[in-house]
Amino acid sequence: MKLSDTKATLSFSNGKPSMDLPVYSGSVGPDVIDIRKLYGQTGLFTYDPGFMSTAACQSSITYIDGDKGELLYRGYPIEQLAVNCDFMDICYLILNGDLPDGEQKKDFDNQVTRHTMVNEQMHFFLRGFRRDAHPMAVLTGLVGGLSAFYHDSTDITNPMHRHISAIRLIAKMPTLVAMAYKYSIGQPYVYPQNNLSYTGNFLRMMFANPCEEYVVNPVVEKALDRIFILHADHEQNASTSTVRLCGSSGTNPFAAIAAGVACLWGPAHGGANEACLNMLEEIQANGGMAKVGEFMEQVKDKNSGVRLMGFGHRVYKNYDPRAKLMQQTCKEVLASLGLESDPLFKLAMELERIALEDPYFVERKLYPNVDFYSGIVQRAIGIPTALFTAIFSLARTVGWIAQWNEMLSDPEYKIGRPRQIYSGESSRQYKKK
Ligand code: CMC
Repeated sequence: MKLSDTKATLSFSNGKPSMDLPVYSGSVGPDVIDIRKLYGQTGLFTYDPGFMSTAACQSSITYIDGDKGELLYRGYPIEQLAVNCDFMDICYLILNGDLPDGEQKKDFDNQVTRHTMVNEQMHFFLRGFRRDAHPMAVLTGLVGGLSAFYHDSTDITNPMHRHISAIRLIAKMPTLVAMAYKYSIGQPYVYPQNNLSYTGNFLRMMFANPCEEYVVNPVVEKALDRIFILHADHEQNASTSTVRLCGSSGTNPFAAIAAGVACLWGPAHGGANEACLNMLEEIQANGGMAKVGEFMEQVKDKNSGVRLMGFGHRVYKNYDPRAKLMQQTCKEVLASLGLESDPLFKLAMELERIALEDPYFVERKLYPNVDFYSGIVQRAIGIPTALFTAIFSLARTVGWIAQWNEMLSDPEYKIGRPRQIYSGESSRQYKKK
């Protein structure tokens, strides 16, 4: 970031001297006002719940222009990456800053492929969970548990340890998610197979069993790979900020990523894909198309507590570019699996059509987000609803680890420690009650 010629001046109505604040420009996007010296010079904090106007770090990984509906990974538009790359290219890009050449890709693929197995003891650890536990509860535990198994890559001051832990996390997430699934349905775990792609291997670990040959369906493989690409990173969202804040204390990468998994679980964030599909199924069960209008009235009624899941975004005030790509994938997958007349897809299209014309949504700039269609694709592929957010975690791991690494390499890195406006009792004396 570079210092802008513009300066901001903060003045006070109570006669306090005003303060000049430096302004910085990034490569694109809004300028930022540097308030780091504010407290030291004025004794005042800023107040910004939900970080509506606060840049908490500088980053060169992902850029979003919410008004234009633009998403760039390392400068490349998501639309170009989604059609020209596979998820391994994207992982390399996000971690290293540029796309790999042939040799780099081969080497990277090989490193990830060689780290997909997990310590055998992890199987016993998993068995401690109830079989009906939510996969995100299991995954939070398993990812945190990795720090107990891979001590040789937890020294965060050692760049080699950081690299190996990044590769391990990217490589082992599909294995852990598939293990959690197999455990929940009482089937044996399927070990990774090195001659398959990252995504093909995940599909096999999810759906193969020891009794028959499993053949990866290339349409399904491509669709799931695209889901991974679209979810790989998304700037300073809640789970990424959680990973940064957790990692800022110097904790090990597995613990920091486990915090990200826990945050992602919430329905306002990664849990929206599960909530969205549940919503579609509920509308379908209650009358389908005939009840769409009634449902939309509920959504618009603030007292109902009902939201149109998969709609709206803190940053996008335009169509989420990932939603467009996901809608296209949805059509392709349903057509190839002979599910063109899928009622939930029809329902989703109708909800979208109504919302895009309704003043409630138009005025608030509410558009479909990535989760509006991703659930329908995953359901068509055979992934159970409860596992959707775990798939999101798998894909977002590369973004989390790249952001964590970027933070640790930043000379301005400090432990994250927000302040508050205290509104409780002022100092009072103890009296026995
Ligand atoms: N349905 C109905 N009304 C909505 C919705 C929705 N999905 N989203 C926002 N609104 C309304 C909200 O009630 C508010 O209205 P008013 O100004 O009259 O009070 C206005 O729009 C602004 O909403 P907000 O909650 O203040 O906006 P936010 O930026 O704090 O929240 C959001 C963003 C994503 C949490 C919210 O849009 C939401 O809850 N959407 C549904 C959940 C969802 O799909 N989340 C996935 C996000 S994308 C995946 C990811 O990156 O994790």
